Amino acid sequence: MRLQDRVAVVTGGGGGIGSGISLALARDGADVVVSDIDVEAAERCASQVREQGRGSLVVRADVTVAQDCLDLVEAGLKAFGKIDILVNNAGLFGRRIGMPFTNQEEEDWDNCYRVNVKGPFLLSKAVAPHMMERRYGKIINISSIAARRDAQILPDYTAAKNAVLSLTRVTAKDLAPYNVNVNAICPGMIWSPFWHRLAPMIGAHPDFAVEDPRRMFEQWVKSATPMQRAQTPEDIGHLAAFLASDEARNITGQTICVDGGAAMG
Ligand SMILES: NC(=O)c1ccc[n+]([C@@H]2O[C@H](COP(=O)([O-])OP(=O)(O)OC[C@H]3O[C@@H](n4cnc5c(N)ncnc54)[C@H](O)[C@@H]3O)[C@@H](O)[C@H]2O)c1
Repeated sequence: MRLQDRVAVVTGGGGGIGSGISLALARDGADVVVSDIDVEAAERCASQVREQGRGSLVVRADVTVAQDCLDLVEAGLKAFGKIDILVNNAGLFGRRIGMPFTNQEEEDWDNCYRVNVKGPFLLSKAVAPHMMERRYGKIINISSIAARRDAQILPDYTAAKNAVLSLTRVTAKDLAPYNVNVNAICPGMIWSPFWHRLAPMIGAHPDFAVEDPRRMFEQWVKSATPMQRAQTPEDIGHLAAFLASDEARNITGQTICVDGGAAMG
């Protein structure tokens, strides 16, 4: 129970990885504010957190809206009195597959950047004064293997997830004197609602023309992953729980991949 009595906020907590992270934090003893724009999905996750015997609150917040981020922090503080851990997990890919990148439109880039980069900035900014005042905090940003491997099919997403890594280092430096750690996790390939949407889009692209998206996913995993297996939300949750714990108190500004070896070094 290395997170006993800690309070976490997880964005995109109704999604595949966000639920995995929320549950891992709860299993280690944390109460979890599960936030998402999809309230029903967030409720499902929150009830699993409560089944672990931990407190949970669902807050609807769009991470691209500054006032929503401020209200989310406020709601967490009102319910639990403090916020020790923030996981900036909410994210999405654009509406069009790249290849070539000229397939994509300005609005695809704007939307990808707003959710994946501006969201973590706004929410980190909203929670930072509280963490600085208490001289305690852990911020974990969810980037992607796409940032480390330059995923050609998703140029908007790849660029945004690289920006998340840069944001992680900049905020880590600013917050280090206040005993606040900021790190990034790059998940590999996880069959979540994210891939349920992405695989058919790739399959429909003329360069791929695949009929069975799930099979394509498995084949991609095999060809891109030295360990020959997909990752799971639980894999990401284990690392998030470690980074959120005091065992990781001297780790900050780092990017750690959980990808079966897809991006080494
Ligand atoms: N699934 C993968 O293979 C994979 C790989 C690498 C990185 N990632 C990253 O992991 C994170 C979680 O992905 P996932 O696989 O769980 O996807 P998911 O689609 O299952 O979950 C994403 C969640 O974010 C929420 N969300 C979207 N826009 C939002 C907004 N503006 N404000 C608040 N919430 C919003 C969605 O409602 C959804 O519940 C994302 O940042 C994604 O980019 C996923």
